[in-house]
Amino acid sequence: MSIEGKVAMVTGGSGGLGRVHCLSLAKAGCNLAVVGYSHLEKAEEVAREIQAIGRKALAVKMDLANLDEVQAGVKKVESELGPIDILVNNAAFGIVRAVTIPKMSKADWDRDLSVNLTGPFNTIKSCMSGMLERGWGRIINISSIAGTMGGAGQCSYATTKAGLIGLTKTAALEGARKGVTCNAIVLGVFDGGSWHEVAPEFQERIVKRMAMRRTGTPQELSNVVVFLASEESSYITGEAIEVSGGASLFTF
Ligand SMILES: NC(=O)c1ccc[n+]([C@@H]2O[C@H](COP(=O)([O-])OP(=O)(O)OC[C@H]3O[C@@H](n4cnc5c(N)ncnc54)[C@H](OP(=O)(O)O)[C@@H]3O)[C@@H](O)[C@H]2O)c1
Repeated sequence: MSIEGKVAMVTGGSGGLGRVHCLSLAKAGCNLAVVGYSHLEKAEEVAREIQAIGRKALAVKMDLANLDEVQAGVKKVESELGPIDILVNNAAFGIVRAVTIPKMSKADWDRDLSVNLTGPFNTIKSCMSGMLERGWGRIINISSIAGTMGGAGQCSYATTKAGLIGLTKTAALEGARKGVTCNAIVLGVFDGGSWHEVAPEFQERIVKRMAMRRTGTPQELSNVVVFLASEESSYITGEAIEVSGGASLFTF
């Protein structure tokens, strides 16, 4: 894939799947800004792994819900690594709440929306003008089948993942004639990160309903992230590409 020398920023780089995206992009030739928040030490660990394979990497702390922090973080990245060419909005909060709508607190709802939906708005707002000026950019938003199919006990999460698709299509329209693409990946279930917080009996029930009867590996997902980040994906924009092993197909 032609992304040698590009600078990529991955939010949630301190998390399970984000770490794999960072390493895959680095192996494909990118220098990386690894964003973490409450586990910055994990982002720092990922940055060291990337440096060990000969790429530049910087761990950056930002609360994605806070536009000032995002803008300051982006400024730091751009002064140390150069302009951001690839933005992967992978971070999410409140993924495994399992709370029904009547029991969901307004505070949790607000926080989930501010990280999962306002967060990508904040990062796109902070990175996209530069991409448009330079005439090249890739924005990849990590959505979920909870956003396209709904998710019982996941009202805020599912809502943000659906909203992210609207943001994706809008950024795609605004970037289409200026070399900037924006796509969403609609995830099924992957054996990494938040999946490990799901109780084993629920994991079993979920996998039984999936066409392939198995979860995806983080690498099967990262392969798509790297493709969408590359020059080779230049004619794909505004798409919500499901990578789920057919998890939304009717199966019995
Ligand atoms: N695993 C799956 O099967 C699955 C399925 C569907 C969709 N997804 C999506 O895949 C993405 C990655 O999920 P994961 O499973 O790897 O989850 P994870 O390991 O829990 O990672 C979540 C990441 O989000 C970051 N984050 C949370 N709040 C933040 C904030 N306020 N500011 C900045 N960063 C914040 C966390 O950083 P800190 O820990 O440093 O705070 C962490 O790196 C998410 O968008 C999730 O919705 C995953």
